[in-house]
Amino acid sequence: MIEEHERFITSTKNLTDAEIENSLRPTSMDSYIGQTRVKDALSVYIQAAKARKESLDHVLLYGPPGLGKTTLSHIIANEMGSQIKITSGPAIEHAADLAAILTNLNQNDVLFIDEIHRLNKTVEEILYPAMEDFALDFIVGKGPSARNMRLKIKPFTLIGATTRAGMLTNPLRDRFGVICRLELYSPEELQVIINRSADILGVKIDDEASIEIAKRSRGTPRLANRLLKRVRDYAQVIGQGHVTKEIAEKTLQIMEIDNLGLDTIDRKIMLSIIQKFAGGPVGLDTLAATISEDATTIEDVYEPYLLQLGFISRTPRGRVALEPAYKHFGIEMPNQN
Ligand SMILES: Nc1ncnc2c1ncn2[C@@H]1O[C@H](COP(=O)(O)OP(=O)(O)O)[C@@H](O)[C@H]1O
Ligand SMILES: [Mg+2]
Repeated sequence: MIEEHERFITSTKNLTDAEIENSLRPTSMDSYIGQTRVKDALSVYIQAAKARKESLDHVLLYGPPGLGKTTLSHIIANEMGSQIKITSGPAIEHAADLAAILTNLNQNDVLFIDEIHRLNKTVEEILYPAMEDFALDFIVGKGPSARNMRLKIKPFTLIGATTRAGMLTNPLRDRFGVICRLELYSPEELQVIINRSADILGVKIDDEASIEIAKRSRGTPRLANRLLKRVRDYAQVIGQGHVTKEIAEKTLQIMEIDNLGLDTIDRKIMLSIIQKFAGGPVGLDTLAATISEDATTIEDVYEPYLLQLGFISRTPRGRVALEPAYKHFGIEMPNQN
């Protein structure tokens, strides 16, 4: 059943995700819903690379958590007919670890580095010649007899994923031939994803229910799937497994997710700006401290959706609450003059 204080909107995957995410993950461009611009571009590059029998250019995928970066990386490898090796920025501690990974790649393999903005400097420097010349540079010996050595590696494709492209160093960002920004999904796209997931999970769901869940999933497939799973649990207990609009609404109400998909933390963020800081501007760190939340989490996980709703704006002096937010919470907006 639904635990009361379990965090729902998170930047990382939680345990229940892991079990179902793999089964719900689309494996081809055709079953990957939305992101048409990114998909179309990538499909052309993939076709061209395959025709030349070359590795695909290095790809940087960026956007908020849960939008399909990992999924898309697997699809790219599938469509290239290549193997994918998965790691992440924080997992690679030493330059030698990365060198070992790189030398073990086969021709045209994909190396996926999640959270690539968290690579440390010495590790990152190994990547520059690897990406540019498919080579590893290192120094052999010590003192006056030290020599530079270059070791060739097989051509490969690096796919980097990050929530924020702005946190990458320039030399690293410049070495990506393809840079793709993933956008929040429309409710209609999310509905297709929800219906597809329901199908895979064997859940019967009404269209009015799936669009309701879609509208409250903050443009994010991972959340849409998470909500579907909760709604399914609820439907099993009270509705013979069939998800109706009423059951969907009831579940969302219990989870304290409102009609725009805002949860308690979103409300805390907005009400704090509006009530404690007179609508702002308030600096991110001050705001974070006020609601005892991590500044990075606010910026990466909560803000993208609040920005899209037009609830806040980022100004040089801090975050400001905008009129749609006042309307949503039924609070009169102070006179701006
Ligand atoms: N375009 C899409 N179409 C269908 N399902 C998707 C799509 N993008 C993401 N998903 C679903 O959302 C989940 C989270 O996606 P993931 O690739 O792990 O996000 P990210 O790596 O960006 O955090 C996946 O398991 C998948 O089921
Ligand atoms: Mg991911």
